[in-house]
Amino acid sequence: MQILILGAGSRTAAALIPMILEETEADVTLVSRHAILSDDPRITSIEADITDRATLKDIVMSTLPDVVVNLAAMTHVDRCEVDRSECWSLNVTLVENITRFCRATDAHLIHFSTDYIFDGLRGPYAEDDTPNPISYYGKAKLAGENVVTSSGVDATIIRTNVVYGPSPDHPDFVLYVLHSIDHGKPVNAAGDQYSNPTYVDDIAEATIRIIRKRRTGVYHVGGRDYLSRYEFACIVAETFKLPTTLINNVTTESLALPARRPLRGGLICTKAEADLGMQFMGVSSGLITLRHKLFQRTAPPGNR
Ligand SMILES: NC(=O)c1ccc[n+]([C@@H]2O[C@H](COP(=O)([O-])OP(=O)(O)OC[C@H]3O[C@@H](n4cnc5c(N)ncnc54)[C@H](OP(=O)(O)O)[C@@H]3O)[C@@H](O)[C@H]2O)c1
Repeated sequence: MQILILGAGSRTAAALIPMILEETEADVTLVSRHAILSDDPRITSIEADITDRATLKDIVMSTLPDVVVNLAAMTHVDRCEVDRSECWSLNVTLVENITRFCRATDAHLIHFSTDYIFDGLRGPYAEDDTPNPISYYGKAKLAGENVVTSSGVDATIIRTNVVYGPSPDHPDFVLYVLHSIDHGKPVNAAGDQYSNPTYVDDIAEATIRIIRKRRTGVYHVGGRDYLSRYEFACIVAETFKLPTTLINNVTTESLALPARRPLRGGLICTKAEADLGMQFMGVSSGLITLRHKLFQRTAPPGNR
């Protein structure tokens, strides 16, 4: 099997790539704006700008993948609100081109989306709930989903939310909390913004099971615990044995962010858990796994 990963430098790809190598026999082509070095004979690494349509076409047509995993996206919600044309180009136009070349090669497309396609009035949300995005990022991601669904390509859309993991190159909410407290800086965490934070390895494992089972349609992949950002920040601090005194319980409105946030967001994941035979991690087990991985990385050998 040949798997083509677009956006191979993303935080999700950092978890997915080693898992594919460990759990499958597939050959993997990685496409990124930056060189990804690997001496694994099953990996081919391509440095390219996939927003250039001809470049993308050449890559897909020469690779002839069985599966295309699209992790390329503009994911910074506030930047999307401001730089709308860049957001549309990555989250919609790129997806149009990917579906076109997947159709030409009969590849199974796995595309990623977000709970931000919902308005956050009544979350957590199931796969068939009606989207109503309230930010430009959410609107563009929903448009990207619609491109995939109407393309006629064999496709899976994996929606996730508040992803965290051990990759220091990809600062996420957990790493922001740890870094801030470590440096004595306050953490303003919204007590009115709810989600079910997702440990990145669960997304990687769910993706592999979707590939193996050739599942199509929409799947929600998120953690077991539904809680506010403030509660999450406090559990992060406690798990890493740091004080919670610097964590302030604030409202989303007081943060005055450029983009609106769904307040009761999050995803109901019973379909994915039942169909893929998984139990997604709650925040305690996710954070303990993360602590273990970060400690493994920093502790000297013999002291792990
Ligand atoms: N992170 C979350 O909390 C979260 C929550 C909900 C949904 N999602 C969805 O999950 C998917 C993966 O998210 P992620 O957090 O793993 O992504 P990420 O770490 O933000 O990475 C996105 C990747 O997109 C590519 N990219 C960004 N700007 C580009 C540009 N101008 N031109 C070409 N490529 C560009 C880059 O790939 P290269 O570095 O390889 O060039 C980048 O690493 C996305 O579809 C996102 O919407 C994420």
